[in-house]
Amino acid sequence: MLTVQNVITDEDVVAKALKEKVEKHEARIGVIGLGYVGLPLAVEKGKVGFPVTGFDINPARVDRVNAADNYIGDVKDEDLKDVVQSGLLIATTDFSRLAECDVIIICVPTPLTITRDPDISYMQASTEEIRKYLRPGQIITLESTTYPGTTEQVILPLLEKTGLKVGRDFFLAFSPERVDPGNKRFSTKNTSKVVGGMTPTCLEIAYSLYTQTISNVVPVSSPAAAELTKVFENTYRAVNIAMVNELMMLCDRMGIDIWEVVEAAGTKPFGIQTFYPGPGVGGHCIPIDPFYLTWKAREYDFHTRFIELAGEINVEVSYYVINKVVRALNSVNKSLKDAKIFVLGVAYKKDIDDMRESPALKIIELLRKQGASITYHDPYIPVIEPHGGSMLHLESVPLTDEVLANSDAVLILTDHTAVDYERVVDKAKLVVDTRNATKNVLSNREKIAKI
Ligand SMILES: NC(=O)c1ccc[n+]([C@@H]2O[C@H](COP(=O)([O-])OP(=O)(O)OC[C@H]3O[C@@H](n4cnc5c(N)ncnc54)[C@H](O)[C@@H]3O)[C@@H](O)[C@H]2O)c1
Repeated sequence: MLTVQNVITDEDVVAKALKEKVEKHEARIGVIGLGYVGLPLAVEKGKVGFPVTGFDINPARVDRVNAADNYIGDVKDEDLKDVVQSGLLIATTDFSRLAECDVIIICVPTPLTITRDPDISYMQASTEEIRKYLRPGQIITLESTTYPGTTEQVILPLLEKTGLKVGRDFFLAFSPERVDPGNKRFSTKNTSKVVGGMTPTCLEIAYSLYTQTISNVVPVSSPAAAELTKVFENTYRAVNIAMVNELMMLCDRMGIDIWEVVEAAGTKPFGIQTFYPGPGVGGHCIPIDPFYLTWKAREYDFHTRFIELAGEINVEVSYYVINKVVRALNSVNKSLKDAKIFVLGVAYKKDIDDMRESPALKIIELLRKQGASITYHDPYIPVIEPHGGSMLHLESVPLTDEVLANSDAVLILTDHTAVDYERVVDKAKLVVDTRNATKNVLSNREKIAKI
């Protein structure tokens, strides 16, 4: 593993002063993009005494931060209150205040365009703002997930347009965010963090910055290596989930319980990691990030076949769920047309309030297209509003015995912990379970169709 050499000498006056400011927690940190990644990061830095300025183009978010009105599940309300009330965290839409910051961390979205190419416009817009106010003695780190080469080929040329030189006047690094929303065991602080600098000096300052708040910082030789590390991590998940989803569809034909097989395989103490089947992949990362690499690989006349195949299977599985619902209804002489389907859970995974790219959106649309009428309950998602390519607009209904009993089938798409699955199975006529949420339910098992 690469270690960080001390390369900053007394002659490197600008770098030395910045590193000292960072080590004394006197450097002002600017965080651009106050979402799932940016807000926890801003609060974490504020908690150890750094003065932090949060920047966002969404004035409603800025107002909420300044009012200590929390909107991110992974941030503790009292932590946000503490850093806001002590004046350590302020938020603004005024990007001229970037000039006051010694450290600037970019955490803006990196989605795909409608043609599934990388949409780096948010990163470019943020970098344009930084460029306007760039001054000697600042370090910029990018945390948004992106393809290898972005920091060097997109961010650096824009910043050097100012005439300032990287590694001498300002510093630039890439350090991917690994936050796993809803994970109670691993948070920003105890999740190791990879960092790659444009120059050895950039790396030394960035390393020092991250070690102030994170237990284990892992230096790599370049921003591109750090960028690819992140995309590899998400590709690994996408491919393994696709593999188990494919096996699940085969198991269905063979009459073997995939859940039993996965659990049994997971008892091997080495050489295997457990991934579970499900109705498809969602969130801001797994369905998107691997395609950043696919796009970049094309420049090198290279086809990322594993990524393409995983993408295909993880989409196909949503159609398989529809088929499973049709078969379950058939077994009680019902057709999907005009059936009342009650969807339980629409967030892309359990116990979180995020439904970006959730497979539930596609599954609900497909069910509706075939004439089913849909209601849903999700304790974390009170309303589904049209967004991205989806025009769905639905409101969550309370999880009552009547709703369960009056539906032709209950379709569990997300296995939120707060739901009483025993009661669901007891009251429902039929349950299609895509998450094995009902595994501990002992009675009425004949009503359950697992994927
Ligand atoms: N959410 C996750 O679990 C997760 C995990 C690891 C990495 N990431 C990566 O982190 C990045 C951010 O993701 P997120 O989930 O925090 O997104 P998000 O949508 O929750 O938050 C992004 C914020 O950026 C703001 N914004 C957009 N354009 C802006 C601009 N030009 N200037 C200032 N603010 C702007 C938005 O208003 C929003 O508040 C993405 O690249 C994502 O892939 C996300």
